Amino acid sequence: MADDGTHESGDGGAVNDVALDPWGSSTVDDYRKLFEEFGIESFDDVLPRVPSPHYLMRRGVIFGHRDYRPVAEAMLEGEPFATLSGFMPTGDPHIGHKLVFDELIWHQKQGADAYGLIADMEAHAARGLSWDEIDEHTESYLLSLLALGFDPEEGTLYRQSTNRDVQDLAFELGTKANASELGAIYDFDGETEVSYMQSVVTQMADILYPQLGEPKPTVIPVGPDQDPHMRLARDLAGRMRYFGVTEAYASFELGDDERELVADAYEALAAEADDPESGVRCHDAAEWLRSERPPVGPLESAIETLDAGGKEPLRPRVRFLNRNATDEAFEALIEAVEGEKRVYEGHIDSFELSRSEAEELARAVETDYGGYGFLPPSSIYHRFMTGLTGGKMSSSVPASHISLLDDPEDGYEKVKSATTGGRETAEKQRELGGEPDECPVYELYAYLLSGDDDEFATRVYEECAGGERLCGGCKEQAAELMAGFLEEHQEKREEAKEVLDGLDVDLESDRRQ
Ligand code: TRP
Ligand code: SF4
Repeated sequence: MADDGTHESGDGGAVNDVALDPWGSSTVDDYRKLFEEFGIESFDDVLPRVPSPHYLMRRGVIFGHRDYRPVAEAMLEGEPFATLSGFMPTGDPHIGHKLVFDELIWHQKQGADAYGLIADMEAHAARGLSWDEIDEHTESYLLSLLALGFDPEEGTLYRQSTNRDVQDLAFELGTKANASELGAIYDFDGETEVSYMQSVVTQMADILYPQLGEPKPTVIPVGPDQDPHMRLARDLAGRMRYFGVTEAYASFELGDDERELVADAYEALAAEADDPESGVRCHDAAEWLRSERPPVGPLESAIETLDAGGKEPLRPRVRFLNRNATDEAFEALIEAVEGEKRVYEGHIDSFELSRSEAEELARAVETDYGGYGFLPPSSIYHRFMTGLTGGKMSSSVPASHISLLDDPEDGYEKVKSATTGGRETAEKQRELGGEPDECPVYELYAYLLSGDDDEFATRVYEECAGGERLCGGCKEQAAELMAGFLEEHQEKREEAKEVLDGLDVDLESDRRQ
C-alpha cells in the first residue's frame, strides 16, 4: 500500500481489521481504533497550536499524529524544523498522492526544510519493478510535486538509490535492528529477501536524513499504513543516542511502572516528614507501599528493590544513562553537568537539573562529540480516500481513482460515473437529504476541489444533507472542477520539466534491470 491516500489492489486480505501493514491491502475502517491500539494521537488535540492550519487539517482529513507538538512549536517560534515524505514509483501519481504533496509543500511554505524522495529501492525490492519502469514513474512523481508548488531551490529531492548519505545512515541504523525484530513488525520470515530488509532500513534513514546536519523536529506526512515504519524509526532514533535521560529516586534503576509507585511513596512520605531531605529512606517507602497499595503487578518488584535499598535515602534526581557514548563524550558530560551530581560507572545522577535541561545538555554533548543527537521523528496521518466506484481507491482499478495524468475528459467522466451518497430518487433526496459522509464525490470536494475555500465545502455539505442539492448537478459541478484542475495541473507539469532538468536528480539509472 502506498502512503498516498489510496490502496493498492492487494489480494483481498484483512479488510476489517485495523492491522497496519505497509505492503498489505488492509483498509482502515475504524480510525478510532488506531488511537486506542497503536497510540496514534488525535490531530484535533494539536490543531489549536498550529499557526494557520492547512485545509486538510481543518477538515479532519489529517486525523492523527505522533508527537507533532515540537513541530508546531518550532513553526510558531521560527525555529528550524523539517518535513519529508517518500513515494514508491510503482505507477502514475494520483489524487491520493496529491494529499501528501500538498502536506509537504504546506510545511515548506511554513518554513520547513522540505524533502521529497523517490523510494526506488523499495519499489525494486518490495514490488519487483524494473529500473526502467521505476525511472519513468520517478520523473512523473517529481513533475507533479513541482507542479503543485514544491520549491526545489529551498527543498531537496532525491532518489534512495543515488543518495550515498542515506545509504550510509541506513547501514548505521541497521546495527541497531535485527531480523527477528523486523520479522515481528513486518511479518518478515526466513524467506524475506535481504534487499527487502535493506529497503526498510533505507526508509529509516530517509526519515532521519533531515537531521543529519543538526537534530530538529521533523514531520513525516504519510497514510496510517506507514505507522509501523514511524514506530521503528522513533525507536531507532533513540537507540542511536549516546545518552538516555530518565528520572530516578535512588542509586538503582526502576522500570516505568515501578518508578511511578516509588514516586507516590516518596511524595506521600516527604509531605509527612518535617525534614524531607534527611527523612525518606528506601525501607520506609517499601513499608508505605505494603500498607497503602493493593499487592498487584509491579508493586512486588518495587517493594523488593526498595527493601534491598534499605537505609539509602530516596531523593528525586535525573539520570543520564550511558548508552553508546565514547569514553571521551561520557567524560565531557560528567564535566558539563553543573551542580550536585553523583557519577557511577554507567550513569550520572544530577540533583539540580530538570528533565528538559538534562535532555538538552545530553543532546548538546552528543552532537559536540560526533553523535547524531536525533530527536524522535513526528508524523501526521491522513485519511484514505474512498474509491470513486465505492470501496477502496485502488491504483490498479483505473475507474476507482483519478490519476494526475488522466486526460481532463476522462477525469470528468470518472467523476460523472462515480457512486454517490444520494437516495434512489430525486423526491427522496429532497425529502431526506443525501449522505455526504458516505459520498466519494463529497470527498472530492473536501479533499481537493474546494481548495482552501471552507465556505464552499461547507455549502456543498449542507446543501446535500439538507436535500437542496441533487446528485446529477452536484457531480456535474465536481466533474467540471476536476477537469479544470487536471488541465491546469498538466500545464504546470509541462512547465516543471525544465525545472526538473536543471536539478541534480538522476532520471535515468544506469542499473541493470
Ligand atoms: N514506504 C513508503 C511507501 O510505501 C515510501 C517511503 C520510503 C517513505 N521512504 C519514506 C515514506 C520515508 C515516508 C518517509 O510509499
Ligand atoms: Fe454526493 Fe453531491 Fe449527491 Fe450529496 S448531492 S450525495 S455530495 S453527489
